[in-house]
Amino acid sequence: MASLEEQIKKRRTFAIISHPDAGKTTLTEKFLLYGGAITLAGSVKGKKTAKHAVSDWMEIEKQRGISVTSSVLQFNYEGYCINILDTPGHQDFSEDTYRTLMAADSAVMVIDASKGVENQTKKLFKVCLLRDIPIFTFINKMDREARDPFDLMEEIEAELGIRTYPINWPIGSGKEFKGVYERNKGRIMTFEANNGQSEVKATEVELDDPSLKQEIGEQFYQTLCDDIELLDGAGYEFDLDEVRHGKLSPVFFGSALTNFGVEPFLENFLQMTTSPLPRNCKTGEIDPFSQDFSGFIFKIQANMNKAHRDRIAFMRICSGKFEKGMEVYHVQGNKKMKLMQPQQIMAQEREVVDEAYAGDIIGVFDPGIFSIGDTLCTPSHKIEFEGVPTFAPEHFALISQKDTLKRKQFVKGISQIAQEGAIQIFQELNSGMEEVIVGVVGVLQFEVLEYRLNNEYHVEIRREGTPYQFIRWIANEGIDPKKLNLTSDTKRVQDLKGNYLLLFANSWGIQWALDHNEGLELEEFSRN
Ligand code: G4P
Repeated sequence: MASLEEQIKKRRTFAIISHPDAGKTTLTEKFLLYGGAITLAGSVKGKKTAKHAVSDWMEIEKQRGISVTSSVLQFNYEGYCINILDTPGHQDFSEDTYRTLMAADSAVMVIDASKGVENQTKKLFKVCLLRDIPIFTFINKMDREARDPFDLMEEIEAELGIRTYPINWPIGSGKEFKGVYERNKGRIMTFEANNGQSEVKATEVELDDPSLKQEIGEQFYQTLCDDIELLDGAGYEFDLDEVRHGKLSPVFFGSALTNFGVEPFLENFLQMTTSPLPRNCKTGEIDPFSQDFSGFIFKIQANMNKAHRDRIAFMRICSGKFEKGMEVYHVQGNKKMKLMQPQQIMAQEREVVDEAYAGDIIGVFDPGIFSIGDTLCTPSHKIEFEGVPTFAPEHFALISQKDTLKRKQFVKGISQIAQEGAIQIFQELNSGMEEVIVGVVGVLQFEVLEYRLNNEYHVEIRREGTPYQFIRWIANEGIDPKKLNLTSDTKRVQDLKGNYLLLFANSWGIQWALDHNEGLELEEFSRN
């Protein structure tokens, strides 16, 4: 039996981020194949089955089912135990996507080589920056026409503000994709085109091998030599410490679909990342190798079964070992308890877990007592982790109940759903709850809210659009929002915790607020 230290040392917990269609699912699938977790590519998750009418609750549940099974995937590879956290994209993009990043120790960013840095990647990247986690870049789809690799590097640096270090370098792209040059090994891995469909063969050739020129052609050979000179002369130096602090992103070129460059990526990634890192609690850092178990809840999946109103809370284990049936202390509830139905997702199967270690993610049954950010720990060693931030919603609606006699149920329902973290609610200063402004990160959440209020609380609601596009928390302590000098279309509101925020109709309004109120600090997330 491996010791606690050995178990934790071999763990790697990372999230994969990308804009939809960049190839996240394909890459995940290839990782799983290497781990022997699946034998057939194309079976990770049926993206096509996830496309459906959002108004149908059964479909929403189905979709949630899909995101539960694909929330976390664990597999073993070369002595490592790997936890991949999926960050849902497409219509189910929501605040959960951001929260998931709070549970990861590093992130893999997949970029489509013909498109470069896209919108959703930018949003997710910003969240990674909050914690300075290492970010590895996989530039995918090199078997298709791609943009110039130097341009792509420049764009990543300019758009995301992170330095890059290419670990390998592409030779051509699309029909002319010849392979990649591995900089640290000084050799070429050649790509043998195979109609871009199934796996391709990769052969290794030394850079000074006389057959290389013939194999890739005189022109590509010359371009490669020039590129190498430029990279070595003008590029950044490789610095592992900078990688581990999220300042320098190692970049890999490849093609997930044809399985080209995936294994070298995984190997480099595993060498450059570390085992689970210490986490901050309110009194200092918690060592993952500590004998005392601790973890925090980062995501709650509500109402999988309507009849029971049950929920699954996802917990990231931060230290020690979790054992089924063990007694834990729920800090926010001030209660000792046993976690019920702990489960883990091994490849695609949900399994009851008997034990899990720091770095692992487990799902536990939640009878409605947990909130996002809650700490669970060994009763004899009480600690409290820093909470999970709340992220600025991007869509807003004015919600009110149709039947004014149902006010009580309305307030209860909407508050409970907000506490679960599915939506955020904002009120005008000194106003009641007749009408609330609801903010969501993904528009699907509006449908979920409407359905759940109707179905679980028997309240019908009216939903109206608002002119607001942006929201920012006021970070300054003790400021009176009424005294701020703002454009007439900026609204002052409060969240459930009493924090002050400003709602803006456009980005110009944000700039106005900053320009006309000296020292005003506005933030896109709230740590309280
Ligand atoms: P996502 O999870 O990031 O949304 O992307 P996903 O992996 O589903 O990939 C999106 C599309 O891009 C898929 O095609 C996939 O086959 C294709 N793709 C992924 N990696 C590569 C690659 O390296 N090269 C090429 N040429 N294509 C790649 P689709 O037609 O939308 O779906 P499907 O019918 O193949 O499932």
